[in-house]
Amino acid sequence: MKRPHVICHMMTSLDGKIIGDYMDTEEAKSLFLKYVEIQESYNPKAWMCGRVTMEESFAFGEKLEFNEGITLSVPRTDFIADAHAKRYVIAVDPKGKLRWTQSTVPTSFQLKVESHIVVVLTEVVPDDYLIYLQELGISYFFGGKEQLDLHEVLRKINTLLGAEEMMLDGGAYLNGTFLNEGLVDELSLVITPAADGDTSTPALFAKPDSLVKQPAARFVLREVQKLESNGIYLNYTINR
Ligand SMILES: NC(=O)c1ccc[n+]([C@@H]2O[C@H](COP(=O)([O-])OP(=O)(O)OC[C@H]3O[C@@H](n4cnc5c(N)ncnc54)[C@H](OP(=O)(O)O)[C@@H]3O)[C@@H](O)[C@H]2O)c1
Repeated sequence: MKRPHVICHMMTSLDGKIIGDYMDTEEAKSLFLKYVEIQESYNPKAWMCGRVTMEESFAFGEKLEFNEGITLSVPRTDFIADAHAKRYVIAVDPKGKLRWTQSTVPTSFQLKVESHIVVVLTEVVPDDYLIYLQELGISYFFGGKEQLDLHEVLRKINTLLGAEEMMLDGGAYLNGTFLNEGLVDELSLVITPAADGDTSTPALFAKPDSLVKQPAARFVLREVQKLESNGIYLNYTINR
């Protein structure tokens, strides 16, 4: 199957956490800029985040309720509103929970190229949600009937969006499901020299209990870089 090369690019604490109090340290603030710079150096055609990350950082639309109806009037066919975008941001939102305001994530200090929004759905989302996305000019495609098939999702990212490479930008659940399916090809990590020992925050990968546990993924070290603010950059490729 032709699919994009998947680079999981994340920032962690020394204890492998992806969120927590350590993010408020001077070191984390400075290293976040490095994290953005490294992401941009890949110049990715596509970057992907899970529903929770999107809700927290990019999907700030009004909390609308949708009629739950599913009829044949809105076919479950993929809808690509912009087939020529320079960059795509892919939101994994199987149940259609995210509420948007526009069809792109604009440039900012953490994003150098405007990204057209593409939502990965399952076929059980209400018709009205599909109409809502179409009216906003947001693209969507189906990654499974009731459950997502990540192999199919990647195949479509390649065929529908033309992406040969994709940054997998968290959170833990999304990363964990990709890792469990053997779909993380490269790991790109900015490590902050801080730890907070909080046991309630997620680490880099969190496999959902519903998935059958696979043997631990092993990686081969490709690059180590000492960064400013006592940070480290690590780059690994998967050892298949
Ligand atoms: N340090 C960093 O570099 C970094 C980077 C990104 C994010 N983060 C942090 O990570 C936190 C969020 O992480 P998280 O693990 O709670 O959430 P997440 O991975 O962002 O989103 C999880 C949700 O996405 C959907 N989803 C993702 N993968 C799926 C799959 N394979 N199949 C079905 N559904 C899938 C599900 O949505 P439903 O629940 O709707 O089914 C799932 O609950 C945020 O606080 C964010 O700030 C940190």
